[in-house]
Amino acid sequence: KMFEDSVLDNLETQIVSSSRRHVSAEPLDTHTMTLNASPSAQTRVLIRGGRVVNDDMMLDADVYIEDGIIKQVGSNLHTPGGAKVIEAKGHLVIPGGIDTHTHMQLPFMGTFAVDDFYTGTRAALAGGTTMIMDFALPSRGESLVEAFHKWRAWADPKVCCDYSLHVGVTWWGPKVEAEIQELSRDLGVNSFKMFMAYKDTWQLDDTELLNAFTACKGAGALAQVHAENGDAIKENSRKLLAQGITGPEGHELSRPEEVEAEATNRACVLANQVGCPLYVVHVMSKSAADVVREKRKAGHIVFGEPIAACLGTTGQHYTHTCWRHAAAFVMGPPLRPDPTTPSYLMELLANGDLQCTGTDHCTFNASQKALGKDDFTKIPNGVNGVEDRMSIIWENGVTQGKMDPCRFVAVTSTNAAKIFNIYPKKGRIAVGSDADIVVWNPHATRVISAKTHHQAVDFNIFEGMEVHGIAHYVLSRGRVVVEEGEVRAVSGSGEFVANPPYSPAVYARTPARDAARAWKKVERAPYTGPVIDLSSSSTSNGATTAAGEERCVARRSAGQQQQQQEITYSRGSSTIENSPKRPSVKVNQPPGGNTVGSFW
Ligand code: URP
Ligand code: ZN
Ligand code: ZN
Repeated sequence: KMFEDSVLDNLETQIVSSSRRHVSAEPLDTHTMTLNASPSAQTRVLIRGGRVVNDDMMLDADVYIEDGIIKQVGSNLHTPGGAKVIEAKGHLVIPGGIDTHTHMQLPFMGTFAVDDFYTGTRAALAGGTTMIMDFALPSRGESLVEAFHKWRAWADPKVCCDYSLHVGVTWWGPKVEAEIQELSRDLGVNSFKMFMAYKDTWQLDDTELLNAFTACKGAGALAQVHAENGDAIKENSRKLLAQGITGPEGHELSRPEEVEAEATNRACVLANQVGCPLYVVHVMSKSAADVVREKRKAGHIVFGEPIAACLGTTGQHYTHTCWRHAAAFVMGPPLRPDPTTPSYLMELLANGDLQCTGTDHCTFNASQKALGKDDFTKIPNGVNGVEDRMSIIWENGVTQGKMDPCRFVAVTSTNAAKIFNIYPKKGRIAVGSDADIVVWNPHATRVISAKTHHQAVDFNIFEGMEVHGIAHYVLSRGRVVVEEGEVRAVSGSGEFVANPPYSPAVYARTPARDAARAWKKVERAPYTGPVIDLSSSSTSNGATTAAGEERCVARRSAGQQQQQQEITYSRGSSTIENSPKRPSVKVNQPPGGNTVGSFW
């Protein structure tokens, strides 16, 4: 908050002082021109006459950029010569979009996602996204740090915009815990994704999830979950295939909403048990979103990320009679057939129940999807979104009157920058911030199509949709990479952005919350009565009812202590034992009889 205040103070000072200066640029009769062209022209840019929109304010102001950084915001700026001028009258000047969830060139289900770090980030820029957050996903047993370096080597020479990496925790062991520490402390990763689906490959069980959440908490990192019950999916898939349902509709039938909602609830409960903040990626259904909303209301530190796909289209496409069309929509969790889903999720996003937006951009061409032509479980999971996310949210959010431009900025960039701890470097138009800027035309329209999009994939799940909101100009660290809609991206010009641990937006209230929720021991005199001898093999009740009651009370007390010790161990230790610690005592005739559902 203090940081935020200082940014605002800075901004206000800048506006006041710059309004006393006079305009240095001549009136323009074209959209752009370079004043006193010089070799430095490309590093100096003046965006003139637009409406600056941040998550908390809008103001009509010019923005002056030098060497990739915003240097002045205000009216009548005094700027040095040699600046490229972008005329932004009638446009909004917004922070570049941050897509929190992509998978460029992901090796997955026997093939590779077709959009790589070049085509994917180029398409991102075309749509007004200036930063992506991708995932380094090690295979089972592979080092997380090695996977991180592998992804960096893939991305660095290709990215046209800035990027950061989340890392997947696809297996568990002491080495993984150490690597979560190392990645958070030294390598700029502050978020780790755990999978509750993809049984037999990436799925973690509950004990492993608890261990991973504990390790994230210890490292000041944010735990992320892919929330679907992988066991239920596997069993449903087996039954569907046995019934001859092999087409893409089987994908959705095998993992209905409650499979997502159950896992979302379980993830929230498990994370909360160890006090770890949680981020639910790709929240795809109304019921899963409701879980996030309810848990937030109950005080959990949990964030929810719907994606462009579920905000812009539905799972009704799974019953399309063209196999290729239906297969194009296969992703996990699936899009939902309920046609009210996009509008419902947009409302939650608009009103603060959900926070960030990604795309899960992970694209496969027809011939790749066809790996599952006879078995829906073999269709590579993934859809497009990186190019169209901003327009989809503008169209279904702002144009539909669900959110204002400030909230649009919050859910497309600022909240992500805050949660992943790169604010206000990213996600804000302010002095000192990176010049990742979009000059957004809110009135222009376009029709989305695979024929015209910049993505490498041969299909677009939003095909034919007319959207308002176009990225007229895009600047990536001050470089003009989209000019009047023309993309001029340069491979390798983007940079890796380190996400530091202990994000204030995530961890600021955890110490006080942990203290307030700490377990309290009850001080009492020790029990001094008789204790049943469990080694005795007597089969008779042998005691009066009163004595039986007494033993029952004694046993209950012991049981509670045992349970207490187990839980204390779980919270206090960095690794939780898999084996249940229960007394292995056979009681033939439990006191009180064999009533089902009793304490025994
Ligand atoms: O279908 C999806 N979501 N593909 C990408 C991998 C993942 O689970 O995010
Ligand atoms: Zn996922
Ligand atoms: Zn994903």
